[in-house]
Amino acid sequence: MKFSTRAIHVGQEPDPTTGSTIPPVHLSTTYTQSAPGQHKGYEYSRTQNPTRKALEQCLASLEEGEDCAAFASGLAATAAIFQAMEPGDGVVGGHDLYGGTFRLLEKVFHRWGLEVRFAADSSLEAHDRAITSLSRPRLLWLETPTNPLLDIVDISALAQLAKTRAMTVVVDNTFATPYLQKPLSLGADLVVHSTTKYLGGHSDVVGGAVVARQKEVMEGIRFLQNAAGAVPGPMDSYLVLRGLKTLAVRMERHCDNARRLAEILTKTRGVARVFYPGLPEHSGFQVAGKQMGDFGGMISIQLEGDAERAHRFCSRLKVFSLAESLGGVESLCCHPATMTHASIPRELRETRGVTDTLVRLSVGIEDVEDLIADIEQAL
Ligand SMILES: Cc1ncc(COP(=O)(O)O)c(C=O)c1O
Repeated sequence: MKFSTRAIHVGQEPDPTTGSTIPPVHLSTTYTQSAPGQHKGYEYSRTQNPTRKALEQCLASLEEGEDCAAFASGLAATAAIFQAMEPGDGVVGGHDLYGGTFRLLEKVFHRWGLEVRFAADSSLEAHDRAITSLSRPRLLWLETPTNPLLDIVDISALAQLAKTRAMTVVVDNTFATPYLQKPLSLGADLVVHSTTKYLGGHSDVVGGAVVARQKEVMEGIRFLQNAAGAVPGPMDSYLVLRGLKTLAVRMERHCDNARRLAEILTKTRGVARVFYPGLPEHSGFQVAGKQMGDFGGMISIQLEGDAERAHRFCSRLKVFSLAESLGGVESLCCHPATMTHASIPRELRETRGVTDTLVRLSVGIEDVEDLIADIEQAL
């Protein structure tokens, strides 16, 4: 079956007991056994839950992986991957990661004995240098497009590099979604998602997931899903599963709106720079064209002027809500330096390009003319 069909049907067969077309939300925390140890595959809801399982099956299918484990948030999914490592293992992170991932590595897992390095930029050489500086390189963590600068890293080239060192390759596919990009088919071992974003799609559920190309890579993570217990509740699982059904059509519209807006912003006074991988002048345009089906719904802009002007712009928007998060049907605007990326020390943030005049736009699926008018009046 093709992507859109799988999004609607995989893991969502009519309920065998009632015929219910839509998978039921299984709220029961426990399952009655006919004799000790004799059950229908479900014992206790932290360990297995039918609604969560439906979501995991669907997401595994969309990412073309063998297995998926759903978590209570994107960071819970991320933490499970790091928890499955051994003290002394080395992690290389990309140069422009989501601030929460950076914070988790720097403030938590570094303390627990993981050796952590970050590539200086998106190039193969920079990643190679970071890998070589580790005594026991084990895991390469990539995000593409990156948050918030929309840089592109070449998944297949970096996966090949990591394989020469027997490293596990993880791609945070939150920005692209499996509709636009399939990291597992490009050589990654694991994909991680904040399902809070495009997969849920309506800004009404927090969740995360890990998808594995091969079942064996998931063993430690699946163990931790139960042992540490950061699982999504049944209602949350259901909401993400419902979101997946419309992912393909939503992504088409997100991409169309973002492309149109990005083109207009390049000609707009007051905007110093536009970061959108679908613009031919973007440094990642070629690689994005190769590894993505389209360029996504996220745009960042560098405004002329100072932080004060950027704050005024954000506050004046009316259709765009000034809010953290992204990937919902409604357009959002974020000031990364004071919001999503405030946990990165100022100096480091600025050398990476996350300056006080940077504004990130999550372009929703409203009528694009209203979005354009809103940006123009705010400027
Ligand atoms: C790219 C990316 N990865 C991971 C996360 C963390 O996900 P969550 O907020 O669901 O824990 C986020 C959140 O903004 C994100 O943008």
